[in-house]
Amino acid sequence: MDILYEKILRPLFFRQNPEDIHDRAVGALRLLAAFPWLVRLMEAWNQRPAHAYPVNLFGLQFPNRVGLAAGFDKNALCWPAVGALGFGHAEIGTFTLHAQGGNPRPRLFRYPGHEAVVNRYGFPNAGAETIARRLAHAPDKTSRSFPLGVNIGKSKITPLEEAHSDYTHSFRLLADHADFIVVNISSPNTPGLRELQGRAHLAQLLDTLQRENRERADRLRIERLPLLLKIAPDLTFAQLEEVLAIVTGARLDGIVATNTTVERPGGVGGAEPQGGLSGRPLLEKSLGVVRFLARASGGRLPIIGSGGISCVADAGRFMDEGASLVQLYTGMIYRGPFFPAAVARSLAWCDRKWVGGG
Ligand SMILES: Cc1cc2nc3c(=O)[nH]c(=O)nc-3n(C[C@H](O)[C@H](O)[C@H](O)COP(=O)(O)O)c2cc1C
Repeated sequence: MDILYEKILRPLFFRQNPEDIHDRAVGALRLLAAFPWLVRLMEAWNQRPAHAYPVNLFGLQFPNRVGLAAGFDKNALCWPAVGALGFGHAEIGTFTLHAQGGNPRPRLFRYPGHEAVVNRYGFPNAGAETIARRLAHAPDKTSRSFPLGVNIGKSKITPLEEAHSDYTHSFRLLADHADFIVVNISSPNTPGLRELQGRAHLAQLLDTLQRENRERADRLRIERLPLLLKIAPDLTFAQLEEVLAIVTGARLDGIVATNTTVERPGGVGGAEPQGGLSGRPLLEKSLGVVRFLARASGGRLPIIGSGGISCVADAGRFMDEGASLVQLYTGMIYRGPFFPAAVARSLAWCDRKWVGGG
């Protein structure tokens, strides 16, 4: 199936504008989501016992280890259908408190020779309030077949000093609809955002969000929502150690490592266009971050590995370095819609081998 995509469909798709094709892919999945019985049938096929191995993490059950990375479903339009592609969770967003259009087009660039893309979208989205309304009409927590992660970021118009209240407000609006929340401080496309990875800002942001999370849980007499942080691959080991200390201090539930890189490993594209690079050239950097975090935390902090998975073996390497789950996005652009299911199957097969479960 991957060959069919790579030989016939991909050349056709790649003749068209990358953002247009992305929007059409979202449209197609949205159409599929209008037929829940078909989605369920395809899910059942992908998650049949020989192909899936459920994983319990943060008190949630994931049907398999592969998730859709943030940035694909930027407006919560198509996620109910992604189980049909084999994904065992989806992270949607990034959503910001204020609706925003993002950066001017063009803002997505392909590098087929490197199996990479550069994006500088800048979080275009309808804003947390509209997204919350949209999610209220989608399958709720009790009727979902996989956990839904909601990724929140800072609105462009909000100054850095007020970032924590911007994030908190988004958290309040979206928490009821999320199975877990991911705090994004690592996109290179919102000016100043990555400064939030610095010690003072980060500690304040995570403490404030976790307090809000606890108060909500006490008020509703439920468990706290799992809260994760998504980090950049461009941090030094010293910075990673600092981030780890803050994440542990704020009792976060895990880290998503990593977002896109502002560097150009392998010289992809040169200095222009500016933006975040993802895909194959990112793999070693992301693996390095996961390896460092897993060792420095003594394997106690759950890590979702993301960055450059372009074959099933890459996903296995993330697991070997200490990740509990993986996410992908760019690999699907190059390998096609059957790729997530293939990765999920391969990891499930390894699980059975390692755990001796079947
Ligand atoms: C076009 C595009 C848009 C993205 N938008 C977001 C985003 O809005 N929020 C976010 O946290 N990550 C975003 N990402 C990063 C991905 O979630 C992922 O962490 C990164 O691309 C590495 O994985 P990959 O190499 O499998 O794509 C985006 C990635 C791409 C390719």
